[in-house]
This record gives sequence, structure tokens and C-alpha cells, in this order.
Amino acid sequence: MTDQHSISRRRLLSTAGAAGAAGLAVGGAGGVLGSTAAHHSTPLTAVGSTMVPFHGTHQAGITTPAQARGHIVAFDLAPGADRKAAAGLMRRWSAAAEAMTAGRTPAGDDQIALDAGPCSLTVTFGFGASFFPKAGLADHAPAALVPMPAFPSDAIDPKQSNGDLWIQIGADDPLVAFHALRILQKEAAGVATPRWQMNGFNRTPGATARPMTVRNLMGQIDGTNNPKPTDKDFDAKIFVPDKSGPQAWMNGGSYAVVRRIRMLLDPWDDLTETEQEQVIGRRKSNGAPLSAPAPTGIETTPVDLEKVNPDGSLAIPGDAHIRVAAAQSNAGATILRRAFSYHDGYRADGSPDAGLLFICWQADPTTGFIQIQLKLDGSDHLTRFIRHESSAIFAVPGGAQPGEYVGQHLLEA
Ligand code: HEM
Repeated sequence: MTDQHSISRRRLLSTAGAAGAAGLAVGGAGGVLGSTAAHHSTPLTAVGSTMVPFHGTHQAGITTPAQARGHIVAFDLAPGADRKAAAGLMRRWSAAAEAMTAGRTPAGDDQIALDAGPCSLTVTFGFGASFFPKAGLADHAPAALVPMPAFPSDAIDPKQSNGDLWIQIGADDPLVAFHALRILQKEAAGVATPRWQMNGFNRTPGATARPMTVRNLMGQIDGTNNPKPTDKDFDAKIFVPDKSGPQAWMNGGSYAVVRRIRMLLDPWDDLTETEQEQVIGRRKSNGAPLSAPAPTGIETTPVDLEKVNPDGSLAIPGDAHIRVAAAQSNAGATILRRAFSYHDGYRADGSPDAGLLFICWQADPTTGFIQIQLKLDGSDHLTRFIRHESSAIFAVPGGAQPGEYVGQHLLEA
């Protein structure tokens, strides 16, 4: 047994400071998704102690770097559960989330995560369109919470889609993540029942020699051209601007679009690496855009959509994913992608049931995901190698201040 194994939970928490401020991933208002460095440069021994504050202007789990383990779960209100019952649930859920993210045991604990620190646990809550009429809050439903259009290449399972309430859980340890899921599910008893639940993962902090953007299950470096919190218009693109009136409860909030996207990994693996690179528009090995000549091009080399090859063809093909998805191709539409990979075993035909739990964040889904997906669905080469199988949009309110619960400004309006 090494020293590391014998580090107690109390010690992990008390050494959080020793990890150094730069080693702490900070969520809420000060989140740093664009800078994976703050998250991944933490020494391996600090993984347990890293804590993301629950309280803040925005909920944690949006700009927080995506953790190694993720659970997303949607609930429907139980028959007869009203606004008061929903308020009680949100109060209990927030109290449990606040305790667990700070590394304390929540009420009714079952000791699943007793020996571990918070491991960057974040818990993010959202409301689906169906919640508002059921809770007698139809007049507070945000105008931006539109139904998702049906896209021609969709293969959506309605039972694995939508839902009244949504929770996104992320942590750098699987037991810590499951513990949060289990505690929150138990708190819902009698008020809300699970509708669907999905499990995801990312590379574990410390797995690479230096901080690097994660790879998805197709092997590509994924997340490079995400907007950065330091961008001038980041807040305007990702968070709901402050307003007054019945929708003021969404101030500081954001909209989550959730799509379970299965990857057709067998046909994908039949392509040569060069063909795969043409589909995306970036090199597979290092993520450099195809507009940057090897060997000088690197992941961060700016994309040049105008660049042509000596034979006159576009360096980044006309149907390449990064061209069709780019803000320049979609009237400036910008989303913050924060995904988890998933693998749910094998399908009847022997192919992996695996892909991306695609979660993206924006101030308005109509001018964010929907605008981009309308374009991608018709003309993105990648469409031939993926299937969108689940879909949902959730209104995710701003963060709770100390003493408040998430959604209080809606439920006590
Ligand atoms: C399984 C499905 C998908 C895979 C494997 C995938 C993969 C990738 C990869 C490898 C990149 C390049 C690196 C980067 O900038 O992150 C990228 C970029 C991007 N993707 Fe996807 N993607 C998927 C689905 C989607 C969907 C559904 C959307 C939105 C509707 C989307 C929007 C974007 C955007 C906006 C970019 C940045 C483009 C740029 O400005 O360079 N992706 N994606």
C-alpha cells in the first residue's frame, strides 16, 4: 500500500491549497473550459482534492473542463407533483450537490464516496419545456426553450429524449460520480422519476505527459476551436443576458442541447487516415487544420477556409466538418461543446454502441445548435458516419448564491 492509497479524505481536502491555485479548476463565474491547462496540469495526487465551487453567477459544469466521468439523467415529475413539490426537490438537490461538491457527506449518505475527495465534482440542473405547464409555471417558460426541429438524418428515440428535469454530473472519479447520481436519484423519490440516464467518460487528468485536448472515439482531437471564456463575446454567446420580467429567473443561465450521437465506427475505420482527415478538415495525428502545410501546422494554427491546394482544390474540403460547422458558415452561430464519450456494449450486428454524449451550451438554441445542425445535416461529410439517436434542450438557470437553491427565482417567483 503506497502513501497515496492511505491519504485520508480529510487530508485530501486539507491539501487542496498545497495543489496551488493554478491547480484548482474553478467553475461558476471564473470557469476555464478553454484552458484545459488549469485542469490537467494538476499533479495526479491532487485529482481527489480538486474542488469546483457550487455557488456562482453561473452553474458549475458549463465552463468547467469536462471531467473523466459523466452521468446525465432526465426526470419526469410524478403525477400530482406540483410547484411546491418541485421547489422542495430543487432545494434538497441543491443542498446535496453543494455538500458533495465541497467534499462533505450529504444527508442520508451511503458512504459510496466516503474515502475520496470531491474530484472536481460538478452537478448542473436544468428544466425541460414539459416542466413548466406541469408545475403551473407556463407563463415563466422561456421563449428560447423551443422544440427541437426534426432533422432529416435523425434517428431519435423519444423515450431517450427530452424530460421535465435534467441533471449533468461530472467528476474525475467514477465512484464520486456514481455517488452523486445515486444520492440525487434517492432525493427525487415521490416527486420525480428517472426518464432516461446515460453514462460517459473522457480521458483522465494526468493521463498525458502535458495538458492536451481530449480525443473522441473516432480518434480525433476534439474541442480545439471551442470559444474561450477569454473571448470578447464569450458571455454574450453562451450565457443568457440579464432581463426583467417573468423570465428574469434565467439571468446568468444558459441552454444545454443534449444529443446522443452514435458513431458508425466500423465504416469509419474502413477509411484511410487521409480520407478521415478530409471528412473533418484536420489532421488526425496532431489536430492541425488541413490548410496548414505539414510539418509546420499544429493544433492551434488558425484555420484558413480560403486556402487552395496547388491543383486548385480547397485545402479544407467543401463538405469538411470544420468548414460546415464554423461560425463563418453559420452567420456567426457559436456553441460551447462539452461532451463525454460513451460505450454501451455491442449492438445486435456486433458493432459498438458507442459515440458522443454531445452537450453544447449557448445563450439561445435557435441561433446556436439548431442553426448549425440545419446546415450540418444536409452537407457535412461526417453525417455519413454518425447517427443522432437522442435529443433534448434544457433551460439551465444561473448559479445559486450561498443560502439559495438552483431554480429558486423560478419556483418562488
Ligand atoms: C459524433 C459527432 C461529432 C464529432 C465526432 C465531431 C468532431 C469534431 C472535430 C474532430 C472537430 C475539430 C476540432 C475542434 O475544433 O473541436 C469539430 C469541430 C466542431 N464541431 Fe464537431 N463533431 C461532432 C458533432 C458536432 C455537432 C452535432 C455539432 C453542432 C451542431 C458540431 C459542431 C462543431 C463546431 C462548431 C466545431 C468547430 C468548427 C470550427 O470553427 O473550426 N460538431 N468537431
